[in-house]
Amino acid sequence: MAVALLVQASTALAHDMTESPIGVFDSGIGGLSVLQSLQAALPAEHFVYWADSGHAPYGEKSDLFVRQRSLAIADHLIKEHHIKALVVACNTATAAAIHELRVQHPHLILIGVEPALKPALQLSQTGHIGVIGTRGTLDSDKFHRLLASLQDQAHFTVQPCNGLALAIEQSTHQATGAQATQRITQLLQDYTREMGEFGQAPGQMDTLVLGCTHYVFAEHALRELLGPQIHLVSTGEPVARQTRRLLEAAGMLRNGPGPHTLSARIRLMTNGDLTSLQAAAQRWLGLPHAACHRADTHV
Ligand code: DGL
Repeated sequence: MAVALLVQASTALAHDMTESPIGVFDSGIGGLSVLQSLQAALPAEHFVYWADSGHAPYGEKSDLFVRQRSLAIADHLIKEHHIKALVVACNTATAAAIHELRVQHPHLILIGVEPALKPALQLSQTGHIGVIGTRGTLDSDKFHRLLASLQDQAHFTVQPCNGLALAIEQSTHQATGAQATQRITQLLQDYTREMGEFGQAPGQMDTLVLGCTHYVFAEHALRELLGPQIHLVSTGEPVARQTRRLLEAAGMLRNGPGPHTLSARIRLMTNGDLTSLQAAAQRWLGLPHAACHRADTHV
């Protein structure tokens, strides 16, 4: 009897939660690259996206700082937006905080991102794979464990890209945009040169893992530098598929009809510059400015 009641109660709870939004956060605009895939894979869902641009970049800050920010944002999204799942659309925050987030919110559906080394193994013919990411991600124990588990299957050249996420973040500011775009090209040139040779010949890197969600927005510049043959591997699509699987398994997938224009489904918030988020959301998701809001700066 008690068990039956419990099952009924949790089914009712799952039903209630079905209508709730999925929370997504990043240090800034990088996670919009994950949101692109999420909204495509989950067309009936609502999303609230938190761009922590007031505290970006995360990649060169301490683990403790990134963990505290991640916990504060998760608390806020749970209490104020009643999210049914949280996608940590940031490699740096996942490395620093996913464990603690799971401990603090054992019943929340939580999805993190990590550099896509395993998918890269499937693509590489030369067996030499480049990995770029923030210092925070690439220095983390979580990444070292992932790398160690695959080290015998390929040769990995790992390159932290200090300053790159910040330049991408600034490329959407009206005042700093043009200068930041030049800086992105310069940084990519310097870092990829440092890594070694890209190409299809034996020993060359034929695959590059974009281990930071911001870097997806530099794909065009990377293509120009490395040529069309190099595989650029990011995580948006696998993360979206995993989110869908977990929601389905929990009975929380929203299947209902979508009256849904993108702007009715997606609410974006920033504690940084609103016009930058608006520009990024319009450029990369086709969202109108009205979808973007100022976030509570006390979070
Ligand atoms: N977009 C984030 C990541 O995937 C963080 C970039 C940063 O803020 O340094 O790591």
